[in-house]
Amino acid sequence: MPLSLAQAERLLATTTHDPHLLLHARNVRGCMEAFARHFGQPPEEVEHWGAVGYLHDYDYELFPEEHLKHTEAELLAEGVDAADVRAIMSHGWSICNDIKPETDLEKSLFTADELSGIVWATSLMRPTGLSDLEPRSVLKKFKDRKFAAKCSREVILRGLELLGMDLADVVAVCIDGMRAIA
Ligand SMILES: [Fe+2]
Repeated sequence: MPLSLAQAERLLATTTHDPHLLLHARNVRGCMEAFARHFGQPPEEVEHWGAVGYLHDYDYELFPEEHLKHTEAELLAEGVDAADVRAIMSHGWSICNDIKPETDLEKSLFTADELSGIVWATSLMRPTGLSDLEPRSVLKKFKDRKFAAKCSREVILRGLELLGMDLADVVAVCIDGMRAIA
């Protein structure tokens, strides 16, 4: 069975307590739900994509130096669908493994992971936050490499290439998704 949001929430709660990581999980979930809508997925798949997004950093708080080394066997043992485990593993492609994102879900997760950080950081600079944030504000911050410097522009560009989408379009999807669950 595809991962449900309830299952993702239960599993992440066993490893992750840092409010920043939980916020990141939530933001990536929102982005993934919006990507699923963008790709014309039905409602149950929108939840499914969001659930994979929510769980993607399952081992990061406990093993920041060994990220994704404590995920595959653990999640399979918890009964998480093998395709969803692969999707989670593939967000480390070119960073901590060579599991290349192949599906739209995987490509979306790979891209949203880093981009959601820039979108969120841009929203924090504004009194009105995400509510009326426009893609061009994020594009400006994307070019400023000192802004949210930990969010890798290279990884995002690699993700855009996988998706075959423009940065502006992907930013719009992420804003939409993060706003929907804010
Ligand atoms: Fe992440």
